[in-house]
Amino acid sequence: MSSAADGRHEPLAPPRANAYRDTWATGAIEQPVGKEIAVSGWAHRRRDHGGLVFIDLRDRSGVLQIVFHPEHAAEAHEQAGSLRAEDVVSVRGKLVRRSDETINPNLPTGHLELQANELTILARSETPPFQVDDDGHVDESLRLKHRYLDLRRGTIAPIIALRHRVIQKMREVLNERDFLEVETPNLTRPTPEGARDYLVPSRVRPGNWYALPQSPQLYKQLLMMGGIERYYQIARCFRDEDLRADRQPEFTQLDIEMSFVEGEDVIEVTEAVLSAVLAEGGIHVETPFQRMCYAEAMGRFGSDSPDLRYGLEIVNLDKVFAGSEFKVFASVLSGGGTVRAINAGARELSRADLDELTEFVRGHGAGGLVWAFVEEDGGWRSPIAKFLSDQERADAVAATGAQTGDLLLAVADTDVHTAATALGALRRNLADRFELVQPGDHRLVWVVDFPMLEWNEGEKRWDPLHHPFTAPRGDLSDPATLMSDAYDIVMDGWEIGGGSLRINDPVVQHKILEVIGIDAAEAQERFGFLLEALKYGAPPHGGLALGLDRLVALIAGADSIRDAIAFPKSATGADPLTGAPAGVDERQIRDLHLVSTAPPPVAADASAAGPDSEAPDASDLGASGADPKV
Ligand code: AMO
Repeated sequence: MSSAADGRHEPLAPPRANAYRDTWATGAIEQPVGKEIAVSGWAHRRRDHGGLVFIDLRDRSGVLQIVFHPEHAAEAHEQAGSLRAEDVVSVRGKLVRRSDETINPNLPTGHLELQANELTILARSETPPFQVDDDGHVDESLRLKHRYLDLRRGTIAPIIALRHRVIQKMREVLNERDFLEVETPNLTRPTPEGARDYLVPSRVRPGNWYALPQSPQLYKQLLMMGGIERYYQIARCFRDEDLRADRQPEFTQLDIEMSFVEGEDVIEVTEAVLSAVLAEGGIHVETPFQRMCYAEAMGRFGSDSPDLRYGLEIVNLDKVFAGSEFKVFASVLSGGGTVRAINAGARELSRADLDELTEFVRGHGAGGLVWAFVEEDGGWRSPIAKFLSDQERADAVAATGAQTGDLLLAVADTDVHTAATALGALRRNLADRFELVQPGDHRLVWVVDFPMLEWNEGEKRWDPLHHPFTAPRGDLSDPATLMSDAYDIVMDGWEIGGGSLRINDPVVQHKILEVIGIDAAEAQERFGFLLEALKYGAPPHGGLALGLDRLVALIAGADSIRDAIAFPKSATGADPLTGAPAGVDERQIRDLHLVSTAPPPVAADASAAGPDSEAPDASDLGASGADPKV
């Protein structure tokens, strides 16, 4: 049995000697053999062997073996015999070299042990609900309920330390470039934008509400109007949206804004920050990063966050099937739709696997999935083979670069976006299924040239693809053709940041709000303060925000951003540790001038951790459903 905690070695500056310790556990390697030292920490593990008691003592720095001899320190030996996992102890003793046959090459301190003279038991631990000294799987709800134990484990503790180093590196790079770190309020005005707000009722102004910020977007723009020129903040953001493995209701951004800049300036600063931060995590990337326009990302990868670590590109087969007599393709294409396919390569998939994939794309809005195995003579083993001409099959094979034995998977849909995103999701599914990602491979790409707006058919209006403060490019009177000066940075298929140049002209800002259905009166009501500020000389400005939790999780190779946050919410938005959200006293509700119509509250408990929401591939990182941009 071993854990990452055993091999952990966080080099720490020597502590001030006090009654508990004068050396960190792994700091022992800096000390001369024979020296008397004192260490403190948790009893990570105990072994009784040949009359001796061995304790692995764990502190933040790592693990040091302590040996208790009955004849050498009878009292300490006796006490050590009673130690149980996670008891808190302080030990004083002599540092000795282990005999050659007992050296543990896997431990930084594996050639040493502390021969105990004195043991002080500082606190006892009950049997923990899960083993701290083992990195094996533990139910996440149990881990979150006892997060203080989880934080001790070799799985989470190093990520928390990494997060700290990442933040310091961000500050270092930006401070060198004369950015000012400025805090902005958390009690703000509700200005519903991308996601739903968390609201806070005002006690002193009955009937009025604060909102927790979805991002500091408008404040950072006001800072530019305030002449700050270069701003950053490690900012907490709050969005009441469906959760996923890569989404939390409160999360942290490195938020940046600059004045008198072009998009290239923002991109350059971001690349400087990211390359330094990634290097801190042992990932070395070349700058400048690759760029890809939004249309290409959607076309080739079915996603605005393309994962470039594997192929499986999407191929458009509209021309191949333009004259097809196969009814499904013909009707989709005549209705303005599309037929697209992925060449999955030479794969052995059973009928059941193919049915599962069909259900999967249906879950992503597609009507179904066409599959075909390419055979030697140009024939296809496929339910639709007989409906297609030899020429169509040959052209599809040529277009997808298929070889004999390859599996083609196609989606036909009248909605082009649905076909693209369903295949984009299928692409991720296949990459997971066939384990196509090479460990340690990382790919960064800027996605640029976004359309400014997208048509919301349900609401019959134009919605901004980023936020309505993004600078438009093109003819304002023709919303469909407007592009934006926006850029997203994507790493390994996760959107880790997004930004844009902003509007600094009040007339353009009014016009964009009008185009997205916010008339002058409503604009004044919701964004009056911004429109007012724009009247007094707003510099050209732009910026970007990096998702800190996502970035740290990616560097650490964690499956979920919850592992990169000290106290995350569960997938259902609850905190199994404190029981938040929780009911409040009637009195508190009255003080806030509120009346509750909700049924009596149900306590959030550990079992509420639940799976990530959003069927069917909720735990896919950076999976379906674009993030609302704020
Ligand atoms: P955006 O909304 O794209 O931009 O957010 C920036 C980055 O924040 C991360 N992110 C999240 N991380 C965890 N949980 C969430 N719920 C969540 N939502 C977003 C993503 C995303 O790329 N104000 C603009 C930035 C700007 O224009 O300067 C903004 O907030 O990594």
